[in-house]
Amino acid sequence: MDIFAEMERHGHEQVVFCYDKATGLKMVVGIHSTALGPALGGCRMWRYEKDDDAVQDVLRLSEGMTYKNAAMGLDLGGGKTVVIAAPDADRAALFEAVGRFIESLGGRYVTAEDVGTTTEDMAVVARQTSYVRGLKGKSGDPSAATSVGVFVSIEAALKEAFGSGEISGRTFAVQGLGHVGRYLVDQLTAEGGQVVVTDIDPAKVQAVLQNPNVSAVEPDAIYDVVGAAFVPCALGAILNDRTIPRLRVKVVAGSANNQLAEPRHGAMLAERGILYAPDFIVNGGGVINVADEMNPGGYNKERAAIRVLGIRQRLEEIFRLSREGHMLPVEAANHLAEERIQREGHSGIYLAHPAKTS
Ligand SMILES: NC(=O)c1ccc[n+]([C@@H]2O[C@H](COP(=O)([O-])OP(=O)(O)OC[C@H]3O[C@@H](n4cnc5c(N)ncnc54)[C@H](O)[C@@H]3O)[C@@H](O)[C@H]2O)c1
Repeated sequence: MDIFAEMERHGHEQVVFCYDKATGLKMVVGIHSTALGPALGGCRMWRYEKDDDAVQDVLRLSEGMTYKNAAMGLDLGGGKTVVIAAPDADRAALFEAVGRFIESLGGRYVTAEDVGTTTEDMAVVARQTSYVRGLKGKSGDPSAATSVGVFVSIEAALKEAFGSGEISGRTFAVQGLGHVGRYLVDQLTAEGGQVVVTDIDPAKVQAVLQNPNVSAVEPDAIYDVVGAAFVPCALGAILNDRTIPRLRVKVVAGSANNQLAEPRHGAMLAERGILYAPDFIVNGGGVINVADEMNPGGYNKERAAIRVLGIRQRLEEIFRLSREGHMLPVEAANHLAEERIQREGHSGIYLAHPAKTS
């Protein structure tokens, strides 16, 4: 990979490669932009087949965080860490090393939990750096806040597509019953929705089947469910050439990151008359909640909850912009984020502790 060409193509400020001999830790930190403030984004741990895959992932995810944080109205830039999973490593020692490397960035990047890491891991990171958020006793696990943001997004998207945001009497296809999907099943059925679920883990499916308004299908059959909305809460790239022609819904709104396999799939959904609520708006509740810890007075649950509910208005604004500007909702969302960075962003490199010059 030509790393500088990639950085230029995506507009990254900094990519940091870290190797710790003692623990075997290999990690990459991508700082895409600090135009609006320190770069905030989670620490993902994953088994990558090749190192290049890890680098591609961190570049893509950190760029996504710039857009998400800007669109959520946060004074934060976008960054991400990927740790190449080392199953034999001492987990606590590994995350202590993660913490030391993050500390070495002097506050330009702030981390949090993500796929493959936990609040316990972040507590270990916090022994070595203060640049970590989403800790127990503060904002904690962001999944509940994320699911509230997804729920209000579903209502906003239904309203745009059908003229009514009513959940009751409608059918929803939920892919993935993890932290977020599980909450959503409860929220949607509590409001009178019928939910068709799937997960590759049968135990997770079993756990929700006691609910009389829930039925299940095999993982690949979720794309064929006839209903109001498809709610992807598992993997990225699930909206692609193979799946889009199968969808029998009017709305796609879910928490999974990077749902479109390629940008052209946004247009493909629109051609099929399916309203796509951009993922980085829909799933912004988690980062809003985590970022609240960065307020001078510390985390305030009520304030964070109010801001998460604001995702509804943000999405309504995006749909309006999309309608009036004859662009896709995802283009309108990108436009909104880019415009904010242009208007409010600094052009330089953010430093938490600028050097004193005489
Ligand atoms: N948790 C958050 O606060 C948050 C915030 C923003 C974005 N997201 C994104 O939302 C998605 C869900 O997050 P989560 O925290 O619930 O993750 P999770 O790991 O707890 O749950 C994911 C679930 O998806 C299932 N799954 C995996 N592959 C599947 C497949 N092919 N078909 C069906 N099910 C499958 C897994 O078994 C698991 O139950 C992820 O893409 C995550 O990146 C989460």
